[in-house]
Amino acid sequence: MCGIVGYVGPRQAAPILMEGLRRMEYRGYDSAGIAILDDGELVIRKAAGKLGILAQELVGAEPQGTTGIGHTRWATHGAPTTPNAHPHTDRSGRIALIHNGIIENATAIRKTLLARGHEFISETDTEVLAHLVGAFYEGNLEEAVASALRDVDGAYGICVISADEPDVLVVARNGSPIILGIGDGENLVASDQSALVEHTRSVVYLDNGEMAILTPDGYRVRTLTSRHVDKPINQIEWDLATIERGGFEHFMLKEIFEQPESLENTMRGHLLEESGNVRVYGLKMDDEQAKAVKRIIITACGTSWHSALIGKYMIEELARIPTEVEYASEFRYRNPIVDKDTLVIAISQSGETADTLAALLEAKRRGASTLGLVNVVGSTIAREVDGGLYLRCGPEIGVASTKAFTSQVAALAMVTLRFARLKDMSLLEGQEYVRAMMKLPSQIQEILERADELESLAESFKDSTNALYLGRGVNFPAALEGALKLKEISYIHAEGYPAAEMKHGPIALIDENMPVVVVAPRDAVHGKIVSNIQEVRARGGRVIAIVNAGDEEISQLAEATFIVPETLDLLTPILTVIPLQLFSYYVAVARGCNVDQPRNLAKSVTVE
Ligand code: M6R
Repeated sequence: MCGIVGYVGPRQAAPILMEGLRRMEYRGYDSAGIAILDDGELVIRKAAGKLGILAQELVGAEPQGTTGIGHTRWATHGAPTTPNAHPHTDRSGRIALIHNGIIENATAIRKTLLARGHEFISETDTEVLAHLVGAFYEGNLEEAVASALRDVDGAYGICVISADEPDVLVVARNGSPIILGIGDGENLVASDQSALVEHTRSVVYLDNGEMAILTPDGYRVRTLTSRHVDKPINQIEWDLATIERGGFEHFMLKEIFEQPESLENTMRGHLLEESGNVRVYGLKMDDEQAKAVKRIIITACGTSWHSALIGKYMIEELARIPTEVEYASEFRYRNPIVDKDTLVIAISQSGETADTLAALLEAKRRGASTLGLVNVVGSTIAREVDGGLYLRCGPEIGVASTKAFTSQVAALAMVTLRFARLKDMSLLEGQEYVRAMMKLPSQIQEILERADELESLAESFKDSTNALYLGRGVNFPAALEGALKLKEISYIHAEGYPAAEMKHGPIALIDENMPVVVVAPRDAVHGKIVSNIQEVRARGGRVIAIVNAGDEEISQLAEATFIVPETLDLLTPILTVIPLQLFSYYVAVARGCNVDQPRNLAKSVTVE
């Protein structure tokens, strides 16, 4: 979603801001803009559409100046037009502001300001906030921002500059991430680490209710009510190379191919082969506390919700703890039954998804203990949970989640083992699980080496308009994930179903044009899914099946098969999802789609 970047220091700001915005493109946006302090004047350039359009406008006309702010906007209120793009200015035109989030009482503030003679040129809540800051300005930007924010309800991450205070950036956070990048003789700010890492790896994460004032030589953090706050400096653990494409045509493909390594990183240091157990200090739960958990609720959105469903199968089967999976957006507005014996697990790649965060906070308010399975270090969800596990799969830039999914499932398998070994799971069974998990990275590698088979398959299915994905048991969520991948990047309508459910409706759609992707490893329900494939074939459907080696029965029925290595039943989705990811990728490329930045989608959905 929206991206914020700011710079104050000795270098020209515009190229730094444009590069920072480019690094955040993956988050999704539909307009962009920058504001630079140029010799005591504010110069603003903005454009609807992709960053390239703004970059084109800057050729030969780049504003000069060493303090500036830049923004990519993902439209929520007001169309993605140039007037609605950020930065917005106050009434004097000397203060510029960029904003992520939503100001909930903007309409009321706008009305008051209109009555005082203010005029607005955009439909945005951000312009209202810029005017409010200007209305409080009496020669001190920091105080004007603090006063304005005390009148504001809603979520924000903001960055503000004033033509009258040339070497100052003022930022504030309430619900939308703001990270300070601490440099040598220069300082930066961004809503995403990827915009900072080229310049510095020393960062400070602002918390809600905090503001920071940055100059070239230093920074200060305070609350809206002027209380000084000491903040630790953290180090970003990855470098620029990690967020470059590294020779791959798209980030999504790079991230699919990173999975042997990313999965290894998720599991590193946690698996205990000898004791058939896991050691995850981050869970912050001793044996007594773990035994006291009577019920688990897993909450998440999108792909993370699919991994949650797999978690339910694992936990109930092995740890025998009743587990429910809830869309975070539904959980937050229900009246869920949650008490102190309930463990709520929030799963999120970004750690910033608004609905997942709200569900987590609601669960905490109701007395649940909480765990987070999160990828982005220092993200809001990671900091709100009682304990948890970082996925450590590295930055995921492609909007379609891939490596985070396999890492989430592996993390859930580890959480499951932690509980299962306290219950009925024997040492031998525990060891079998740990060994099977250790083999997964090399098994994924085996699949990736045959990616070209999926590329040719994609060619013959690229003109489909609909597709059905079927799976049973733990591979039903894998089917859901396959369908989501296909629809979000190739725009082919796809639905995932438990295979047997097909005959209760979707079977009506099947004809000789309908591709049906069936996830059918040789597991406990294999015989059942063979019957479902027969039902599809009887109606002329084109079956692509994901199978284990030597599955003659399905090979004879399917138009195409792709073989995945064998593993324990509950771990199969970690392998079966890889060909589904690759198939979607190649179909999208064959259809000429923008794989890394699909239309209308944002990487991290920070609005509800
Ligand atoms: O960052 P999160 O894991 O919380 O994001 C949740 C969903 O927005 C995300 O998985 C989304 O569905 C992806 N586009 C799926 O590829």
